[in-house]
Amino acid sequence: MSVLSGKKIVLGISGGIAAYKTATLVRLFIKAGAHVQVIMTPASKDFVTPLTLSTLSKNPVYSTFYNEEDADAQWNNHVELGLWADLMIIAPATANTLSKMANGTCDNLLIATYLSAKCPVYFAPAMDLDMYIHPSTLASFAALTQFGNIIIPAENGELASGLSGQGRMAEPENIVAFLEADLESKLPLKGKKILITAGPTYEAIDPVRFIGNHSSGKMGFDIAQSAANLGASVTLISGPSHFTINHNLVNVVRVVSAQDMYDACHQYFEDTDVAIAAAAVADYRPKIVADQKIKKSEDNFFIELEKTKDILASMGAIKKNQFLIGFALETENEIENAKLKIQKKNLDLIVLNSLQDAGAGFGKPTNKITFIDKDFVVEPMELKSKEAVADDILNKVIAHYA
Ligand code: CTP
Repeated sequence: MSVLSGKKIVLGISGGIAAYKTATLVRLFIKAGAHVQVIMTPASKDFVTPLTLSTLSKNPVYSTFYNEEDADAQWNNHVELGLWADLMIIAPATANTLSKMANGTCDNLLIATYLSAKCPVYFAPAMDLDMYIHPSTLASFAALTQFGNIIIPAENGELASGLSGQGRMAEPENIVAFLEADLESKLPLKGKKILITAGPTYEAIDPVRFIGNHSSGKMGFDIAQSAANLGASVTLISGPSHFTINHNLVNVVRVVSAQDMYDACHQYFEDTDVAIAAAAVADYRPKIVADQKIKKSEDNFFIELEKTKDILASMGAIKKNQFLIGFALETENEIENAKLKIQKKNLDLIVLNSLQDAGAGFGKPTNKITFIDKDFVVEPMELKSKEAVADDILNKVIAHYA
């Protein structure tokens, strides 16, 4: 999945011949899963039509502060557009537009939006080779870079003038690759290895029967997704769950029993930075697993159970620098029991679920948690979607490394 997925992008187009390539650029942004709003300078409309860009971006295209031909004309709010954006890119950025950006010459909607935007701003210059190295252009680059804006350098090649040199706007594919690489390099969990357990475990009784539980695995999968979106390399060790995840930073290891999960966790734990145990691991398993299907005969049938290994506690016992997060599902004396678990399992943080909270627990899309850290600081959270809870948990990890 592209790091641009779900990102809100304002694309500002200024009036150079390379504007025709922005149709492809918008198409690539949409394909990557981004939301795109296009703002055009009046001059750019000579090179590519608003209709093309509106069709591709699936949004209206803005160019002026209001539409003069529309009797009910509404103000196109540049502040709203600027604040909506997760990132803004000006492509092509002509010498004229770059100079206006550098000097705050606010005479069109694009510049007004640029001045209102608080997000990262990228610009992809496009001009003839001598214009590209003119001291005035270089001064614009320097000013904009100093503002924190990021240049996507022009490429070498044949120019519209017939001359050859540096000045061609970077190809749309290269612009997307540049943005992805830049955003990925700045992700807060970039380079961190995170081990996550998820789902139930099944403990075999015989070849066709097992003892299991109602955990769907959703919480663990949501944590894995959120961690990968933040740049972490994730190993997700999941018991039987119908959820899947498709992210190049997530390695899913499917297991069945508590013992399988234990073995898989210990294969990865030493080389991990953070471990989050969201699985609902069976506490007991049948002591003897029948080789053949058990036939019904007696009226009453007993299965002797033995304890499974506590995976989380076993990681706590050997942890060095790992940041270890466990879950606790409690029905009474919640806070006290959770604090005991922090000590017993040597945790850095526990995520407490109380079954007394409506909307929390197995099979629900929402969760209501309380964080308790190893210093016993208690932080109750609101009822939220499990995705939002996953984000909260990862924010604790980010704060730990801050
Ligand atoms: N856990 C584990 N291995 C087990 C049992 C639990 O890794 N064999 C982990 C869970 O993934 C969870 C945490 O331990 O992160 C707490 O599980 P919970 O069921 O709340 O508590 P238990 O320690 O099993 O104690 P009890 O059932 O007595 O409350």
